Amino acid sequence: MPVITEIEDLRRIYHRRVPRMFYDYCETGSWTQQTFRENTSDFADIRLRQRVAVDMEGRSTATTMVGEDVAMPVALAPVGMTGMQCADGEIKAARAAEKFGVPYTLSTMSICSIEDVAEHTTKPFWFQLYVMRDEEYVANIIQRAKDAKCSALVLTLDLQILGQRHRDLKNGLSAPPKLTIPTMMNLATKWGWGLEMLGTKRRQFGNIVGHAKGVTDASSLMSWTHENFDPRLNWDRVKALKEQWGGKLILKGILDEEDARRALDVGADAIVVSNHGGRQLDGALSAIRALPGIVRAVGDQVEVHFDSGIRSGQDVLKALALGARATYIGRAYIYGLGAMGEAGVTRALEVIHKELDTTMALCGRKTIEGLSRDILLVPDDFE
Ligand code: FNR
Repeated sequence: MPVITEIEDLRRIYHRRVPRMFYDYCETGSWTQQTFRENTSDFADIRLRQRVAVDMEGRSTATTMVGEDVAMPVALAPVGMTGMQCADGEIKAARAAEKFGVPYTLSTMSICSIEDVAEHTTKPFWFQLYVMRDEEYVANIIQRAKDAKCSALVLTLDLQILGQRHRDLKNGLSAPPKLTIPTMMNLATKWGWGLEMLGTKRRQFGNIVGHAKGVTDASSLMSWTHENFDPRLNWDRVKALKEQWGGKLILKGILDEEDARRALDVGADAIVVSNHGGRQLDGALSAIRALPGIVRAVGDQVEVHFDSGIRSGQDVLKALALGARATYIGRAYIYGLGAMGEAGVTRALEVIHKELDTTMALCGRKTIEGLSRDILLVPDDFE
């Protein structure tokens, strides 16, 4: 077993183990991938202020997210088709998160259903909703999330229309993969992944197949999904969905100060500053550049969460110091899951925790609440 010291180690193993189609689905952004690249490179431009001779005994990364205790402010972001990265991937990721003490968010587009994950976990998880044209379907899935005791609804606002992802189009992305000569040749080299997949019954999109009108298998699902992302989504619908849900609401995909203010009017419990990991509007600001302005605009009135580009505990610390209340990771835990299943997600969380704790200490801070802007050196052109 190789020694895993950083997230990049997990990415390399993941790359070797998982079919190329699903690796590419995870590891690319939309269009030219400028925003995808800047999500990470802009983090690297922020430097840290080293402090010394500050008593660092008794540090803690514990805090809360929308009122829930967390071991560190790093939730697992919703990721579609997680169950194609690793058999029963959503269940494994949820279990790792539960044991670590951080929230897990199940995507609408997951392979395992809400009920599958609820059956294999003991604590409430969060459910992410894509707003679909079919209102009956939406009402039904909200009810299923309530029945499964999901403790927050993460409503994604930045995917009314799917961003153009060239690599997925070229690969003919589908789940399960269509058996063309190139995919078969690639699958032949991924036998560990294949053996695991043979051992699961869950190769369908359990939140949708059998629940949406006319969707009985994976192929009818693809066309239903593409036709059903609701381009009419507006703030009135968001308000209506808040009423329908009745619980904690997190609005994900805010990148603009005006939209952040609109989110306040809706009465969201939190917003997530996010550009969907660079998968939607290419050319948009990196999420870390967008963060300070949004914190200035609404940070004293709503919890501001952050994702897009986090690959280390240092990145988590930078986002928190710029005013985020908490963060999410997407790819960083998918690498772990694809590399080593549940143990890999745990390892990803351990790596990030260790990096966050060490960096806090070397910057002279003992608690998450103690992190502030003055531990950073931010480039002049940053905001
Ligand atoms: C996503 N993301 C996403 N978001 C969402 O609300 N619902 C979803 O189903 C998905 N699916 C999805 C699949 C894959 C493969 C990725 C990489 C991402 C976006 C995700 O929740 C999160 O915003 C980003 O992953 C954050 O960026 P990083 O951490 O991956 O850089």
